Amino acid sequence: MVIPIPNSSSSPELEVNDLTALRSQRSGEGLALNQRYLNRQLGRVLQTLGFDREWVRGEGPYLIDSTGGRYLDLYAGYGVFALGRNHPFVKQALHELLDSNPPSLPQLGVSGLAGLLAERLVQLAPASIDAALLTSSGTESVEGALKLARAATGRTRILYCERGFHGLSYGSLSVNGNEEFRAHFGPFLPGCEAVPFGDLEALAAAIEPGDVAALIVEPVQGKGVYVAPDGYLAGAQELCRRSGTLFILDEVQTGLGRTGRFLALEHWGLDPDIVTLSKALSGGYVPVGAVLTSRAVFDATFSSMERSVVHGSTFGGGDFAAGAGLASLMVIEREALVDRARAMGDLLMELTLPLVERFEVVRAVRGLGLMWGLELGPPSGRAARRVWEAVEHRQPGLFAQLITVPLFRDHQILTQVAGHHMNVIKALPPLTIPEQELHRFAGALEQVLTGAESRLLRAYASLGLGLGRRALRAR
Ligand SMILES: Cc1ncc(COP(=O)(O)O)c(C=O)c1O
Repeated sequence: MVIPIPNSSSSPELEVNDLTALRSQRSGEGLALNQRYLNRQLGRVLQTLGFDREWVRGEGPYLIDSTGGRYLDLYAGYGVFALGRNHPFVKQALHELLDSNPPSLPQLGVSGLAGLLAERLVQLAPASIDAALLTSSGTESVEGALKLARAATGRTRILYCERGFHGLSYGSLSVNGNEEFRAHFGPFLPGCEAVPFGDLEALAAAIEPGDVAALIVEPVQGKGVYVAPDGYLAGAQELCRRSGTLFILDEVQTGLGRTGRFLALEHWGLDPDIVTLSKALSGGYVPVGAVLTSRAVFDATFSSMERSVVHGSTFGGGDFAAGAGLASLMVIEREALVDRARAMGDLLMELTLPLVERFEVVRAVRGLGLMWGLELGPPSGRAARRVWEAVEHRQPGLFAQLITVPLFRDHQILTQVAGHHMNVIKALPPLTIPEQELHRFAGALEQVLTGAESRLLRAYASLGLGLGRRALRAR
């Protein structure tokens, strides 16, 4: 079939019958197309920060641009590329699956691959888990978890943590502890209440009336990279158990080896009622997620033949998603990536923890496994502090961009700021990252921090205020 593409000002009308030809004929138009048809404010941010490269390929931990520049990708697509990009084993498995013409999504029928993925996930999860609901994203897993929790308990209240992030669809947004994501979208699901992360007393008080369906919490909060304090998660699980509240661990980001255990919950020996997964399960290829539950919780929703399709979605459990999930689990096992994440995480911490002593602006380095964050704070000198405050007044969290921008521009390393209005730099390296690249990252970070500190006033005043002005203009 020939599909005419509507004319754009920069390119002639094109008849498309070959995807490869289309990509090559329209190469270099990515940003222009984005600005015309997609998210133009994001495009402005990329241009302002100088992140507007034209990416042409992904190879393991690297993104490659149109000039051949190789960038170390410590953003990893928000954690999707735990195996690196285009892992050869997953690629081969998906090629074979494509060539086998699988009977994906029969709907009134079952697929063997979905069952095999569910079986493997249950085997790898704690004893409390014996069933899985397959989804296509993190937020969809969270929506499923919230619905199952209400159905299983017959209660409506749901507790979530301040700063918690669980996705951006309405249920997930209703348990999102970051105001900047919620503004303009209310009202939210009734019955959802925030509790401070790490505060067992506050949790006990909120749970006390005995009408809470579930607590949802990330073992390591992605926004800001905050690891649950010692005793918090075990204590929270215990409080939930005592009051018939379901304990939901959102492992969409922390799951599948990221923290140095297959599931982060293993660090604390937890036995939750529900675990949500997604991101890395995709192998970086096919969106997939899972809600892992006890059989009792699962069956409370799917409680009769009449209710057998009461929750789900068209794409949940498709053969390509399940195949990508199974192949990714095989890679994690074959390449011992959980142990590798632990060892590389220890190394990254060892290389970067001394930065706290070395640099006044580095307040903390924290994380678990290969989920890593570095928090910046104002320097103590009065003049420098005043400029910091001026920069932060213009746009809170701007200082962190003064580190991520030169890391990208001068060292070809892609990192992220760990949330709105926070001066935390975050890295989610692929679990396959070569050891020497961690050394290179630590060295680059030290150089950038040295530059920032030695040119403190000048850097703050010119780059900081310049960026601030441009950012304000871009709003
Ligand atoms: C802990 C957690 N839960 C849920 C989500 C939402 O996942 P998705 O973006 O696939 O909807 C995210 C995404 O970053 C996440 O980190």
